[in-house]
Amino acid sequence: MQEIEKYLPIFVALEGRRCIVVGGGAVAARKVAYALRFGAQVTVIAPELAAGLARDVEQGILKWVKQPYRRDLLDGAGIVFAATNDEAVNAAVAADATAAGVLVNVADSPALCSFILPSIVDRSPVVVAVSSGGQAPVLARTLRARLETSIPARFGDLASLMGELRETVKQQIPDATQRRRFWEHVVHGPVAETLFAGRAEGARQQLMAALADTNSAPATGEVYLVGAGPGDPDLLTFRALRLMQQADVVLYDRLVAAPLLDLVRRDAERVYVGKARDRHAVPQEDINRLLVDYAKAGHRVLRLKGGDPFMFGRGGEEIESLAEQGIPFQIVPGITAALGCASYAGIPLTHRDFANSCTFVTAHMRDDRFDLNWPALVQPRQTLAIYMGVHGLDRLCGNFIEHGLAPTMPAALVEKGTTPAQRVITGTLTTLPALARQSEVEPPALLIIGEVVTLREKLAWFDQI
Ligand SMILES: C[S@@+](CC[C@H](N)C(=O)[O-])C[C@H]1O[C@@H](n2cnc3c(N)ncnc32)[C@H](O)[C@@H]1O
Repeated sequence: MQEIEKYLPIFVALEGRRCIVVGGGAVAARKVAYALRFGAQVTVIAPELAAGLARDVEQGILKWVKQPYRRDLLDGAGIVFAATNDEAVNAAVAADATAAGVLVNVADSPALCSFILPSIVDRSPVVVAVSSGGQAPVLARTLRARLETSIPARFGDLASLMGELRETVKQQIPDATQRRRFWEHVVHGPVAETLFAGRAEGARQQLMAALADTNSAPATGEVYLVGAGPGDPDLLTFRALRLMQQADVVLYDRLVAAPLLDLVRRDAERVYVGKARDRHAVPQEDINRLLVDYAKAGHRVLRLKGGDPFMFGRGGEEIESLAEQGIPFQIVPGITAALGCASYAGIPLTHRDFANSCTFVTAHMRDDRFDLNWPALVQPRQTLAIYMGVHGLDRLCGNFIEHGLAPTMPAALVEKGTTPAQRVITGTLTTLPALARQSEVEPPALLIIGEVVTLREKLAWFDQI
């Protein structure tokens, strides 16, 4: 015989229903909050009330019957919570409610409950309820937390928009299969993404345009310019991960490490457009054109870049051509190398005692010279986070000393920051170049110059090299 499940998940309309909560302490307060949130008319039965509940009573949000529990106080209840710290009272409430055929929940006693409260993910009107049948609430909460991270915050707005236009779409597309396809395109395509990005009116217009043109397949795709962070996949944003999992094509460069690429949708086409110093695998103009071509062919194109796309990443140029040609795109920031490397090396970029500003610069050379504003960079009480500074490190450190920084100024090189291969070499402007040579430091590496580097001695946590 098939085993019977104890709990049937249902969604109960509580609005306007009479809800009795027996108990006036912290546990009761949680039940009250739950019931109020869903529109119940709540009465609390307790000789005394916790401060928060008393405030609600004063404000007229809930009623208070100031006396110990009695059976007749349940009269007219639609739903009951027993939440006192007296097991006997809770058991009596459960027995009385059950005898009267009223749904009852008893705090911490699943055996006495005729219903239990799930952990919920609220994207109203979409609500996900998770229950472990009262066996392991912590497990249910863990699952809920996972769902929280994978369901976009504006998911409910999409549901509302779809609900609002449901009838209109039904009239315009009478065929059920075609209608389903249309809605699938809405949920998995630009309309949803535009909405999730917070542009409700734009999403509505896109949806209406698609509806007006239901016979032709969507002509243009879209481009997601996404910052993949410095290397540790855990540093991706929720939105980056979601777009990575729905793209049809991914164009990625050298700084996007394999563990990050593994998170891209399995069957997405992968196109390497990486650039190494002095070796441009795919010229920038070709990358710009590829993005346009793929999008025009109707693909959802992921342009995945190391760190943040707008930080020394030419992201601006890549989307310029998209903007010119009216191709929809969105930009997702990533954790830039300076922030990732500083945190994982235990070097705060600012600190009350050492630095009240931090400057991000790139040590790229022009005409065989560093193109830097030296007087601004040698000001006191600042930290310098220098990208692309490994090649020419000798000259770079020498130039800083020539322009006025102390030869003893602390400096660190963070190689492959935030990854398991991270190495941090510390020294001074005088000693660091030789130390880096000895350790054979390779790009990508970030140079940090400033007194804050000394804090690493205390704050290192990720590696201890
Ligand atoms: C072309 S820039 C791209 C920067 C990127 N857009 C960002 O926001 O981090 C490349 C430089 O970033 C730095 N970099 C990127 N990832 C790094 C990492 N994991 N560890 C150390 N430095 C890194 C290095 O200085 C590297 O030469």
